[in-house]
Amino acid sequence: MKRREFIKNTGLGAGSVLVGSSMFTFLESCGNVMNNGDMNMGSQPVPVTEGNFSRLLPIPNTVTGNTTLTAQATTANINGSNKSVFGYQANGILGPTIRVNNGINANINFQNNLSEKSNIHWHGLKIPANMDGHPEAVINPGGSFNYQFIINQRAGLCWYHPHPDGATARQAFQGLAGLFIINDAEEAALNLPSGNYEIPLVIQDKRLTASGITYNPSMGEIMSGYMGETIIVNGEASPYCEVETRFYRLRILNGSNARIYNLALSNNADMIIIGNDGGLLRNPIAVKSILLAPGERLDVLVNFAGLTSGTEIFLENRIFDNGGSAQGKQTFKIMKFKVSQIVSDSFKVPTSLSSVNAILPSSSSKTRNFIINAPQMTGGMNMTGIHRINNKIYDKNRIDETVSANTTEIWVFDNSQGDEPHPMHLHGVNFQVLERTGGRGQLTASENGFKDTVLVLPRETVKIIISFATLKGVFVFHCHNLEHEDDGMMLQYQLV
Ligand code: C2O
Ligand code: CU
Ligand code: CU
Repeated sequence: MKRREFIKNTGLGAGSVLVGSSMFTFLESCGNVMNNGDMNMGSQPVPVTEGNFSRLLPIPNTVTGNTTLTAQATTANINGSNKSVFGYQANGILGPTIRVNNGINANINFQNNLSEKSNIHWHGLKIPANMDGHPEAVINPGGSFNYQFIINQRAGLCWYHPHPDGATARQAFQGLAGLFIINDAEEAALNLPSGNYEIPLVIQDKRLTASGITYNPSMGEIMSGYMGETIIVNGEASPYCEVETRFYRLRILNGSNARIYNLALSNNADMIIIGNDGGLLRNPIAVKSILLAPGERLDVLVNFAGLTSGTEIFLENRIFDNGGSAQGKQTFKIMKFKVSQIVSDSFKVPTSLSSVNAILPSSSSKTRNFIINAPQMTGGMNMTGIHRINNKIYDKNRIDETVSANTTEIWVFDNSQGDEPHPMHLHGVNFQVLERTGGRGQLTASENGFKDTVLVLPRETVKIIISFATLKGVFVFHCHNLEHEDDGMMLQYQLV
């Protein structure tokens, strides 16, 4: 059941009053569905089925900032058979990795060969609003659009995906996503592992059938987010990758719609975090495990030195607390690293990575509070979106927050009364995370430096600080659980 599509089809929007008898029919059936113990109402985790780690990890091809992306229905070989998917190029899930240097002009021609509206949002890029892929800035089937923007930000791992209002989750789940890597001189001077030793890992969960990818969330799965039984990395199920006994740089994106991973290595080796959504951290931080929510990225150094040839190490997901009823309940393997060659390696992890200046709370001119939770359906009368921000759902005709250019603000995401995780994401800016109260009660190792998405678990309140620049225009901010987003957990801010 797709509540939001139902809302659209009936023309109901925010604040609509339900009067017609057909509405009550729907409400009754809704109540019945909610009470049907046989259905997965989102209170149950979707268990992961591990594969046998016998297929090679694919690496997406790399292109420049001058390219064409053609959204299309195509096929991809996943888990040993051809499946119908959406892709940004023929014969594959995931688009190419776009790699650019800071300062260049990107000119990306988007050709929409789908039979439905779509667009591209450049997640993490600080670019003008008219190039950002706003949910209303969609391109018709058969149409095209030139995304042109100047890259004006530090090195980091961004990504791209569709963002049409109400269809983002389905289009992304069917396969539309890709990486966008920015390089700069500061990063180059660190001589980090590169080439074959810099491996992008796009981690996603899919619901596979023999012939394709199923996307049909129940009402419960709109509550929890839509999860799949198969974990794919770079488009392949349970893959493996051969490694040498040396340092590798893993560039990791959680490109899942809803699933949160608690990443760890099966030999309990350190993962040395050097970067996150917004680029390099000030200093590396070694951890044994780290949560990665949908939309978030990690830049991690892993050292395979000292292992004997043939050793197998898995990147795995470990259980975690406080993920709500549907997340963090199962340990499973994601992919395998197999040591295949003994080499010597002189790489030393730099002790200092980047100059990141803290944005001082005293520089903030305004604090905005956002309550993020899912109010209960009040007697079945509440039809306008389950997930809300300040009790509102997305309305393209309403600007929710007006922000002055060149000011700094503190935004507070309050999930203290909520019981679901919400990775909150802002378009058009990077921010710093100031504080987390409740729940985990502290910042994680990847939450210093700059971010564009921050995970707010049940019972948590997270405070961020944002320096808005001069990118005037209308941007959205939303939960990056894509089912929540399409359900309306998205508002607009306008920089003026
Ligand atoms: Cu990946 Cu609106 O976001
Ligand atoms: Cu974004
Ligand atoms: Cu959410």
